[in-house]
Amino acid sequence: MSLPTSLLTRPPTVRPGPGPTRRTASLVVTPEVVAHRGASGHRPEHTLDAYRTAIRMGADALELDLVPTADGVLVARHENELSRTTDVAERPELAHLRTTRVVAGTTLTGWFSEDLTLAQLRTLTARERMPGLRPGNTRHDGREGVATFTEVLAMLGAESTRAGRSIALLVEIKEPAYFAGRGIAVEEPLLADLARYGLDGPRSPVVLMSFDGGVLRRLAARTRLPLVRLLDLGDDVGPAALDEIETYADGLGVHHELVLPRTPEGFLAPATGLVRDAHRRWLGVHVWTLRAENRFLAREHRRGADPAGHGDVGAAAAALLAAGVDGLITDHPDLVLPAVRALA
Ligand code: G3P
Ligand code: CA
Repeated sequence: MSLPTSLLTRPPTVRPGPGPTRRTASLVVTPEVVAHRGASGHRPEHTLDAYRTAIRMGADALELDLVPTADGVLVARHENELSRTTDVAERPELAHLRTTRVVAGTTLTGWFSEDLTLAQLRTLTARERMPGLRPGNTRHDGREGVATFTEVLAMLGAESTRAGRSIALLVEIKEPAYFAGRGIAVEEPLLADLARYGLDGPRSPVVLMSFDGGVLRRLAARTRLPLVRLLDLGDDVGPAALDEIETYADGLGVHHELVLPRTPEGFLAPATGLVRDAHRRWLGVHVWTLRAENRFLAREHRRGADPAGHGDVGAAAAALLAAGVDGLITDHPDLVLPAVRALA
């Protein structure tokens, strides 16, 4: 499989710094639009249909979360507890696997990917995570099973060929320390699957991401693929933290409010210095997650009072682009793409 290089793997072509306008420079010529869990605003997340829909909409890249099965196969799910996005709770034959675990400090009761074999997981079907907010997506419930990582890689190759363009893949490694504690190594199957599909070389369109700096540090010694450190609200984004991240990562993937915080009333506040501080270290900055529903938007971007109604996510995207971000990770790539095209 031969795919063009993702934006993150290209050398920066625009230097950040003071320009003729107040716009902050991006490190890339054209910021990347990344479909979060596929076009998850339109389809149940992490289904092949969600990925293909995003590609059809013109997304530059897909974002993919990975968790392991009991037999060590990586599958596309946001979290290892499966009941929010599959029909596992309605399977009497799997009832005995319901249990309670502490994952990343949170106690959860349900069915965990690491307790199901791939054969058991293949009996499940995927469903919409937020049926109240996205009732239209529920008509796709039950149509697909849970995809394996290699099925996603195969789909990506076929769709890239069909579309005649590179579609990048931003792979998030979920909870590697938790799985290591249970004796499950996720790095090995990750690297093996990528190698099997010829996606571990310098021209691969794959980027590896994690909130866990430890796994990225280990991967830095094992792969040349770009590495992105994810940061959430409350994480340290000070100079010393960024200096340390720069030793192993190529970019940051940050909660959008770390770039554009909100006032106590819920309006946008002035941009922080995070994009500038990251770019000074040649770290790219992707932001997550842009969602079109009013519930997620700053007050000036909401339209009407319905939390499930769509506001102006294009304006939200434009504000982040003006703050200099290099990529927008969104559930609604179709609504965010026009903001990027308007930069041209
Ligand atoms: O792409 C990063 C973003 O996906 C991180 O948040 O919780 O959606 O995986 P989460
Ligand atoms: Ca993710």
